[in-house]
Amino acid sequence: MSEREDWRRIDRQIAELFVAEPGADAALAATDDAGMPAIELAPPHAKLLMLLASMRGAERILEIGTLGGYSTIWMARALPPNGRIISLEAKESHAELARANIDAAGLSKVAEVRVGEALDLLPRLQAEGAGPFEMVFIDADKDNNAAYFDWALKLSHPRAVIVVDNVVRYRAQDTSSRGKDDARSFMQVVAEDPRVDATVIQTVSIKGHDGFLLAVVKGEA
Ligand code: SAH
Ligand code: DHB
Ligand code: MG
Repeated sequence: MSEREDWRRIDRQIAELFVAEPGADAALAATDDAGMPAIELAPPHAKLLMLLASMRGAERILEIGTLGGYSTIWMARALPPNGRIISLEAKESHAELARANIDAAGLSKVAEVRVGEALDLLPRLQAEGAGPFEMVFIDADKDNNAAYFDWALKLSHPRAVIVVDNVVRYRAQDTSSRGKDDARSFMQVVAEDPRVDATVIQTVSIKGHDGFLLAVVKGEA
């Protein structure tokens, strides 16, 4: 058996053992049935987000990139009853399905999906005084990661947790000059940002080799 098959098999075992969430599983199935791309977080990673939100005691969470709401539902599970997660999604069809999945999971009181380009919605969130957020999950169009990260800092609490998906898969090892938007330069931007402590964790999963960036905003909570 190849190493890759091992990763996948073991990732499935981990998911079976540790990662059951009926609402999220239903969202995954519905997203698949709708023919939308299967690019949700691998289940153990979705569970990790829930655990991080829980460790941070997050009451307000911001997500950029909703798809069918799989990761949204997982993070919403860590919220207290008065908590709130706002997820931003560019595609109306994705947002509609996510709302239906969130509703079916019984989370429509805590989880809200907003439709539009994230870079249009983020200034509006700021204008209406949403946040500060104790956790931000960035998982949309990768070329805007640096801009999203900057927004995450503007809208977040000291000691907020920021997670950015797919920073390895997207050209992390490309040392050619692809300009400001490649993953390597994004990592470099964060590494040099004095406002955060951060690292990147490489991962293997059912989705293969990838990695996520994990940052904590400096300051007194
Ligand atoms: N976080 C989800 C997966 C998100 S997939 C999960 O793990 O379950 C990425 C999503 O980002 C897609 O639905 C895509 O439509 C959305 N997206 C892409 N560009 C965007 C943009 N500029 N603004 C908001 N959403 C965007
Ligand atoms: C893919 C995976 C992701 O997690 C994502 O956010 C976007 C695309 C992919 O496998 O192509
Ligand atoms: Mg992703």
